[in-house]
Amino acid sequence: MGLIWTASLATGVDWQDSQHKDLFCKINEFIEAINRGKTQGDLLGLFNFLSNYVRTHFKQEEVAMDKHGYPGTVAHKALHKTFMDNLSVLQKGLREQEDIHKLTMQARKLLSDWFYDHVAKMDKNLGGFLVTKR
Ligand SMILES: [Fe+2]
Repeated sequence: MGLIWTASLATGVDWQDSQHKDLFCKINEFIEAINRGKTQGDLLGLFNFLSNYVRTHFKQEEVAMDKHGYPGTVAHKALHKTFMDNLSVLQKGLREQEDIHKLTMQARKLLSDWFYDHVAKMDKNLGGFLVTKR
């Protein structure tokens, strides 16, 4: 089963919520592609799109943190960086056709478990702070 966005995940910040919803859809597409046994080329295309989207999304969150002096900025940015580093390792592996089965399992875990958890906790805190700054 893929990621399901529910109202309890809403941060209250419109752009953040709509990007999170989009990302859930894109992550689900990627997971479905894995489940359907899509080719390495297809998976890599979806993965590249996803990682670019995530990078842009993280950047926008970080600009908002800096702009408003969010107290949790350092910790939140560190988590974004670790996630992007992990994505890069997976992307390289997919590109170089390492053990695709193992890589896709790792990608699925990272994208669905980590990302869901991040939205539910870190981003909810951030959004709660940002709505007070409007
Ligand atoms: Fe975040």
